Amino acid sequence: MNRIFSGVQPSGNLHLGNYLGALRNWVRLQRDYECIYCLVDLHAITQWQEPAQLAAQTREAAAGLLACGIDPKTSILFNQSRVPAHAELAWVFNCVARMGWLNRMTQFKEKAGKDRENASVGLFDYPVLMAADILAYKATHVPVGEDQKQHLELARDIAQKFNHDFGVEFFPLTEPLILGEATRVMSLRDGSKKMSKTDASDHSRINLTDTADAIADKLKRAKTDPLPLPDSVEELEKRPEADNLVTIYAALGDKTRSDVLRHFSGKGFAEFKRELTELAVSVLSPLNAEMRRLMADPGAIDTVLRRGAERADAIARPILAEVHRIVGFLRA
Ligand code: TYM
Repeated sequence: MNRIFSGVQPSGNLHLGNYLGALRNWVRLQRDYECIYCLVDLHAITQWQEPAQLAAQTREAAAGLLACGIDPKTSILFNQSRVPAHAELAWVFNCVARMGWLNRMTQFKEKAGKDRENASVGLFDYPVLMAADILAYKATHVPVGEDQKQHLELARDIAQKFNHDFGVEFFPLTEPLILGEATRVMSLRDGSKKMSKTDASDHSRINLTDTADAIADKLKRAKTDPLPLPDSVEELEKRPEADNLVTIYAALGDKTRSDVLRHFSGKGFAEFKRELTELAVSVLSPLNAEMRRLMADPGAIDTVLRRGAERADAIARPILAEVHRIVGFLRA
């Protein structure tokens, strides 16, 4: 059986990178898979979150996912902390994963920065909790952006070592699904940095909550270079900011970068940005309006999350019970 699991941190605004790299694929996968989508609040607190804001952001992220087209009648949508299996399985996996494996995780190095000694233990352990998220449901496929690839390899290593150590064929080796043209959307201010929720400059990202005016302003000020658009992807790839905008255009319009270049090669960025803005607004404005409509009824969002958590718990609980039996915990 095929089962999808994926998650997003409710640690700030959902942005265009989340949308193109993940959420849009999550919506499409609902047609063919059983899908479990999670607002990973346990992951969010690996870096400081204001408690009142965390709760509000979790609700807002839920509204974002629903607005994008996650259907809570078929897919399961919930926040992680409500289902104890995530934290419990993470503990067992802490005793399976090796320090050396975690020491190699590039995202920890990026997030901890120079002040490694002062990073939370949770931030270091973050990928182990991710493995628990996925394997608590024995998910077979995980749709993510490019940046999560290394974490998913770790999840496979943990599953494999667990199976080997205990002599079982219990956990599946999960496959990443890195889909679409925009698997790594970059900052609008710096083509070498990933678009992220935590970038200090709001002009570096397009949020799903941005108005049409804000989108226009951000794209207008997005960094480019003085040359016209090239006629080949090879040339484009030498120009990170141009490549990023063309990739965004391609993904939003369900085209390839070559299609986009065929239309725009030789033209300047002013014209390209005008058309990109039109396209971005036409895709994002309906999402934005739907998000606002949903946010007007927080009780309804909370009901979706509560029901989702009950359904998630019903899947994870027997899997965790089986893990306890395999490990040898006494259950007399
Ligand atoms: P998070 O919250 O950083 O991002 C959610 C999803 O969006 C993708 N993404 C991007 N894709 C393209 N370009 C970007 N600039 C960009 N920024 C983010 C991410 O790849 C991700 O798919 N650790 C995860 C959440 C998580 C998870 C899991 C994912 C927790 N447990 C289990 C899969 C399975 C994260 O921080 O995502």
